[in-house]
Amino acid sequence: MTLRVGVVGGGQLARMMIAPAVEIGIELSVLAEQKGMSAKLAASAVGDYHDEQTVLEFAKSVDVVTFDHEHVPQPVLRALVEAGVAVHPGPDALQYAQDKLAMRAKLDELGMPQPDWAAVSDAQGLQAFLDDHGGRAVIKTPRGGYDGKGVRVVSSGTEAEDWFAALAEDARGGELLVEELVDFRRELSQQVARRPSGEVRAYPVVETVQRDGVCAEVIAPAPHLNGRLAEVAEQVGSGIAEGLGVTGMLAVELFETTDDRILVNELAMRPHNSGHWSQDGAVTSQFEQHLRAVLDLPLGDPAPRQHWAVMVNILGGPTEEGLDVRFAEVMAEHPDVKIHTYGKDPRPGRKVGHVNAVGDDLDDVVYDARAAAAFFAD
Ligand SMILES: Nc1ncnc2c1ncn2[C@@H]1O[C@H](COP(=O)(O)OP(=O)(O)OP(=O)(O)O)[C@@H](O)[C@H]1O
Ligand SMILES: [Mg+2]
Repeated sequence: MTLRVGVVGGGQLARMMIAPAVEIGIELSVLAEQKGMSAKLAASAVGDYHDEQTVLEFAKSVDVVTFDHEHVPQPVLRALVEAGVAVHPGPDALQYAQDKLAMRAKLDELGMPQPDWAAVSDAQGLQAFLDDHGGRAVIKTPRGGYDGKGVRVVSSGTEAEDWFAALAEDARGGELLVEELVDFRRELSQQVARRPSGEVRAYPVVETVQRDGVCAEVIAPAPHLNGRLAEVAEQVGSGIAEGLGVTGMLAVELFETTDDRILVNELAMRPHNSGHWSQDGAVTSQFEQHLRAVLDLPLGDPAPRQHWAVMVNILGGPTEEGLDVRFAEVMAEHPDVKIHTYGKDPRPGRKVGHVNAVGDDLDDVVYDARAAAAFFAD
């Protein structure tokens, strides 16, 4: 008997599950949105994940269904569960990664540290929040944001008119999330894996650097963490995984504030860009860990193999030729750096791959990873 995992979504996260699945001997299938996507090597089906029948049909060929993204609608997820399909993470957990307002309310209930926030439905409501929070705040569309789209800093109640208008047209109607503008020193990410039967394992907390709303670099573990912050981050990560009943990989994006507090920014219930370093820097990569977790197998060791790992994203690249025209040069100059590409056509700013470097001297490792990634710049 072969264990069979089905991934809904054909992006790079599904793609990067393929290698560990092959190594262990797990049959991985992918329901891709289109032909020729990142995970095409494992794409056994192409179809629309909004369509219940398409997803139910795909699920028949696997033992457990998991995801490359969090966009599968709740009714489709519920239909899978009703049909007896093992779904990890399940709809009850996933709703908190799908809706930032639901997440904020639930995290308050769990007593997790987070920015002040409110749900607002018009300019007056937003202005009232601004008046209470020093005149500036961050507004977010509760659903469907990514890479900083759907996030805006505002200083007046009228600066969200377009979003309120769009929400009013949306059949769900609804509210925006507004948050205090956090004075953070840097951003961190805490990943944990949790099995359906309960085992939880935490990765070291990492530092993430975003540019223009997109993750650019990750340093693992986060350097120079003050006091008990690493411990707090781990407790927050494990507490959320348990409190929400997450199964598979969970990433908790965090702010480290200038007054040494940890606040939760948002959640992702799948492998995450902040964990790509683990492919070459940890005993068990987040992609292998996700497969183990959703199959309810014992989790692997998340410990780093070397002192430091640095991941640098490849954003854009040679648009006409593709990334592989640069392989020879990069490989010759940086034989110790690992290259990961996603089979996507480079476009300015598009995430098309990343490089990982590991070692004992942080400056050397940062230099190596940045220098290697720079070879791919257009
Ligand atoms: N309350 C806040 N205070 C200050 N900065 C914030 C706040 N919320 C978000 N940001 C900044 O905006 C970025 C994007 O916000 P968030 O992670 O909520 O959006 P997203 O588009 O869902 O993210 P992703 O890029 O992870 O898909 C954060 O990484 C952070 O840099
Ligand atoms: Mg984010």
